[in-house]
Amino acid sequence: MNPTPRARELDEADRLAPFRARFVLPEGVVYLDGNSLGALPRETMSAMERVICEEWGEGLIRSWNSAGWFEMAQRIGSKIAPLIGAAAHEVIACDSTSVNLFKLIAAALDMRPGRTVVLSEPGNFPTDPYMVAGLERQGLAERRLAPREELAAALDENVALLMLTHVHYKTGAMHDIGELTRAAQDAGALVLWDLSHSTGAVPVDLAAIGADFAVGCGYKYLCGGPGAPAFAYVAERHHADLAQPLTGWFGHADPFAFSDDYEAAPGVEQLLCGTSPVLGLTALEVGVDLVAEIGVEPLHAKSRDLSEFFLECLARRGTDLDLVSPADSAARGSQLSFRHEQAFPICQALIARGVIGDFRAPDILRFGFAPAYLRFADIEQAAGHLAEVIASEEWRKGEFNRRAAVT
Ligand SMILES: Cc1ncc(COP(=O)(O)O)c(C=O)c1O
Repeated sequence: MNPTPRARELDEADRLAPFRARFVLPEGVVYLDGNSLGALPRETMSAMERVICEEWGEGLIRSWNSAGWFEMAQRIGSKIAPLIGAAAHEVIACDSTSVNLFKLIAAALDMRPGRTVVLSEPGNFPTDPYMVAGLERQGLAERRLAPREELAAALDENVALLMLTHVHYKTGAMHDIGELTRAAQDAGALVLWDLSHSTGAVPVDLAAIGADFAVGCGYKYLCGGPGAPAFAYVAERHHADLAQPLTGWFGHADPFAFSDDYEAAPGVEQLLCGTSPVLGLTALEVGVDLVAEIGVEPLHAKSRDLSEFFLECLARRGTDLDLVSPADSAARGSQLSFRHEQAFPICQALIARGVIGDFRAPDILRFGFAPAYLRFADIEQAAGHLAEVIASEEWRKGEFNRRAAVT
């Protein structure tokens, strides 16, 4: 499919267009899953080669000092900080989002003695409430779920923590982060924001909203690679009272004293648990640097234009799908989700045509618009394939109806 003059015009006017060349993108693929696993920055390959061959191969254990491995978690945290409106010393890159949730939920409960409820919404990304369930089993927490329109009313004197995902993983709907933070704090609770689908895609200003805690993934819009380390944020005013339960040696005030007793490092460093994963952090740093170079505001502006253009292309072809994302691009993250009974085979048929989106059970087709490397021509092409797959009912083929472990 050749791009229409309209798509060409939009691509020519796109100031982020040159950044596409900074990524590895396979020929013949339109990648609409950067909200799940970001594409590979070209520089990641040379950075990995350098760290593996020179720093590890030649430097060996000396590189913990000479190559700055020991400070990597803090250094990368300080680079993520401006992307989310935090100060450099309030963010650290470590562990997975799930593990960081566990540490911060437990720390928040500890800061609100007498309160045990962690309030969230049904349909949140499962790992978030699962981590509360683990603490619940130990008698430390009590899970409460309230639909988003009833969250404010559910904030009573038992709620220690309001824990929400800013941009919903399935629908892309964005919470009013400022208003909910204020409501929770007015009710005496703390707030933990999961920024996995926000960081590097939509502007977030944690300082302006007076946030308490946040976590987020490194492998989505930050392009840190599969299973990349995540990040955790703790507002400076909580550093003195912070006490998280995974008291590993890397979070010790002086790990190389090898003391018998644990003494927490003073700031977010206490969130470190075991040895920092240097290779994973190396890849993450390249992605974070690239996102910082492009800038979150331009990324957000382009992501809104891309998603609007996708809807425009579908409408032009007369494809009427059930949009479950907010219709207003200001109220959603960098994705569009549609409900369709046959979402799974449609997604497979699209993948066979080189259009990679994803399926979220039971009936959601999800398309992410990573603005750093997508062209308007790609969007037009993807919408065209989607319209054809639906109109021709190509999804009925047996091969598109078999499920693998990862959907
Ligand atoms: C909102 C949200 N939180 C957490 C996670 C997963 O965290 P982890 O990296 O621990 O698997 C995801 C993964 O897609 C997510 O979408």
